[in-house]
Amino acid sequence: MDPTTFVLFGATGDLAKRKIYPALYNLFVDQKLPESFSLIGLGRREWTDESFQANVEQSLRMFSRREPDDSASMQKFLSAFRYSVLDIGRKEDYQKLLQLVEQREEELRISPNRLFYLSVGPEFFETIAANIGESGLGSADGWKRLVIEKPFGHDLQSARDLNQKLSKDFTEEEIFRIDHYLGKPMVQKLEILQQSNPVIHALWTNRYIANVQITANETVGVEERAGYYDHVGAVRDMFQNHMLQLLMMLTIHLPNNSSSERVRFKKKKVMEDLEPIEKQNVAANIIRAQYKAGTIQGKPVIGYTSEPGIADSSMNDTFIAARLQIDDFFWRGVPFYIRTGKRMKEKSTRIVIEFKEPLKSSQADEDSKVPNLLVFEISPNEGITLQLNTRDPHHKGEFTPINIDFHTSRDDVPEAYENLIFDALHGDPTFFAHWDEVELSWKWVQPVLEAFEENLVPLHLYAAGTYGPAESDALLAEDGYHWWFDA
Ligand code: BG6
Repeated sequence: MDPTTFVLFGATGDLAKRKIYPALYNLFVDQKLPESFSLIGLGRREWTDESFQANVEQSLRMFSRREPDDSASMQKFLSAFRYSVLDIGRKEDYQKLLQLVEQREEELRISPNRLFYLSVGPEFFETIAANIGESGLGSADGWKRLVIEKPFGHDLQSARDLNQKLSKDFTEEEIFRIDHYLGKPMVQKLEILQQSNPVIHALWTNRYIANVQITANETVGVEERAGYYDHVGAVRDMFQNHMLQLLMMLTIHLPNNSSSERVRFKKKKVMEDLEPIEKQNVAANIIRAQYKAGTIQGKPVIGYTSEPGIADSSMNDTFIAARLQIDDFFWRGVPFYIRTGKRMKEKSTRIVIEFKEPLKSSQADEDSKVPNLLVFEISPNEGITLQLNTRDPHHKGEFTPINIDFHTSRDDVPEAYENLIFDALHGDPTFFAHWDEVELSWKWVQPVLEAFEENLVPLHLYAAGTYGPAESDALLAEDGYHWWFDA
């Protein structure tokens, strides 16, 4: 791997502590960082290299999936970290940064390959990218990459504006837009499972699949993010990015060993074939809802509008359930149900493929056979289950569903950020969102945003600790289906 300088904007922030440092440390332990690697952390706080390193060490102790026990290797890891105070809007600070980057490159005798990681609020993306360009940080004799966190825009127009501004200083090949769902190991496996197993590949069509259900439920509420969340809601926070990315990753059809261009081309195609939704039809296909007070795992929790920082009159959505259709050869006629919500009964991200009616030869069959299901558990547990019908010899030979199960232990599974940072260091864009996907996702979502804004869609309430409002069940019942695994 190329020697790299990792320039981290937002080095004192929460994401860096919880995700980025632990991911880097685990890559280091697995010997997956470049041999010559240096990290320069940037923030407004007056930290020194020593206090920065101490903070990083503490974050590893709190958040790393692997206990950092070997102090020699820990010291080696931390010795790559430097800190510089930076005010995002001050041009002189970028000159100071350039000097530090060049000094480190000289000390380590490495070529100027620079990865700029923006772990900061979206309001700073443009300023930072422009200052990187202007200061000369990005014009050295190596490669440069910009890794950028979500949200990428607030709607279609703002996303286009942002992309246009970033593209003044970075080409599309140099921009790595993070959608951390694409880093989840099971999501990364969807492609290979389909490609390398004829058993799955052959069934991946409307001929055999009755419907698909994609769920990302969380038990947490708005947490301390009222200022952000109340302006975005579930539709922008989860649906436009993570949920549509899951849909793309699941439905692409790929030949073996496809290149990243091919994967992204196919994903774009899915978005192009997704039936657009007209503003007037949003209410018939999308349920929006907000949590009220309830009980989660035995603990009472308050309703959304009682949360600190949220107005009593807030109409923000904390839950979305949607019915989508892909109008292409493989998927025409298969409904895709997607839902995501906060303060739900359990934390679970999963995809359920329900196959078409089992063959039935009598009324007794009619009553007892259940559809075959293929279930991808994405998080917090990772696994695959195939539900089949068989006969139970102990119960007069009745039909009984059995499960063929595969589950991995959580400790063995790398975190999404490990996979993504590794790929960014390698320059592999496969599991990052291409601009075309982002733009098409916003384009699809735009009428939904407008329908919400204009109150063309009722806002339902659901008790915290449930699976959402009854209207979400009714959406599937209209087509003769129900959500699987709502216990
Ligand atoms: C983030 C959202 O992108 O994803 C959060 O901003 C949400 O609101 C989180 O809680 C969920 O991620 P995960 O990996 O816990 O499912």
